[in-house]
Amino acid sequence: MSHHPFDETTEATLRKRQSVKWAHYPSDVLPAWVAEMDYPLAEPIRRVLRTALDENDCGYADPSSLGAAFTPWAKAQWGWDVGVHDVHVACDVVTGIAEVLRVVTAPGDSVVIEPPVYPPFAATILHLGRKVASAPLLLRDSGYEPDLEAIERAYAGGARAHLLCSPQNPTGMVYSEAALGRIADLADAYGVWVLADEIHGALALPGAIHRPFPTVSRAAARRAIVLTSASKAWNIAGLKAAVLVACSDEARDALARLPVDTANHAGHLGILGSCAAYREGAAWLASTVTILNRNRALLGELLREHLPGVRWIPQQAGYLAWLDCTGLGLGPDPALAFCTRGKIALSHGPTFGREGAGFVRLNLATTRSLLEEAIRRMARVTA
Ligand SMILES: Cc1ncc(COP(=O)(O)O)c(C=O)c1O
Repeated sequence: MSHHPFDETTEATLRKRQSVKWAHYPSDVLPAWVAEMDYPLAEPIRRVLRTALDENDCGYADPSSLGAAFTPWAKAQWGWDVGVHDVHVACDVVTGIAEVLRVVTAPGDSVVIEPPVYPPFAATILHLGRKVASAPLLLRDSGYEPDLEAIERAYAGGARAHLLCSPQNPTGMVYSEAALGRIADLADAYGVWVLADEIHGALALPGAIHRPFPTVSRAAARRAIVLTSASKAWNIAGLKAAVLVACSDEARDALARLPVDTANHAGHLGILGSCAAYREGAAWLASTVTILNRNRALLGELLREHLPGVRWIPQQAGYLAWLDCTGLGLGPDPALAFCTRGKIALSHGPTFGREGAGFVRLNLATTRSLLEEAIRRMARVTA
């Protein structure tokens, strides 16, 4: 399987990183958990950050440039027409979700999620005094799908908002256009806000097409607020900047009710890095998608050879592999045994909802040799 320049990165180099992925566990544990990538930064991003440091330029952000960088990118990437004044800024996607929920729902309202799903969704809803309405994903022979009937039941039951994880974390599912269209029609009929977290959208892998929710139909545009960031696709989560996008007067009114200083909480380096990503980061992103696609195929081979008891539906986007380990006899939270006995740190399935019992989430955004080592360590636990 083809060599990629990012494969040159060594474990010794990565162990110098101080971000949580590499800093959290002792040095005998290989980290493959939190969603950070092990690749070198895109050169245009490195350049703007270096200049800022050289100029002692670490003050508050001027968020006004992000919309102008994001909109041509969205048009080129997805044919998505976004007005520059319809791009709002927040410090990160999760904070943006919380701020939007505060203005479009009231305490006690229900908010739909589709577990297994990114753990901060439920945590944020509950922290705000809203209720979680669960519409778990379905697993069909063809892969994961949203349960449209369960979504309609939740909407009919009074839900006011839906946190749509599109593409989905942890399964890597890309919602079909038909499913998004149906969700939009239902949301329009029941007056539900769809907060579409599309942070993994730029990492759609060959074979899948990510559709920004508002592009699906007029109903979708009416009900949607999209939240996204360069942080995931360009691996700059520590810099802090995200965008919130409105595509209808209804959504514009909602975003106009955000606290006035929301944008000012973005990080200065985050705004600089995100603008560089959107303006000049296409080549790096294409290269990253190439290695992620290679690693997805490699993971399939490695699992077949070393962990045949693990079931996996390959992700359609992103770099997270949702591994069904229920056949291994490692209990409801296999990440515990993998970490203590295998010295490989994975994300704990049950944190994604009760549907995650017996699962782990593996981060495959690493080099070939570290992915091979991760699977060797997992296999050791099952031997
Ligand atoms: C679906 C999803 N949303 C949001 C985030 C975090 O985004 P941010 O750091 O901008 O809050 C992640 C991180 O992995 C994610 O997977």
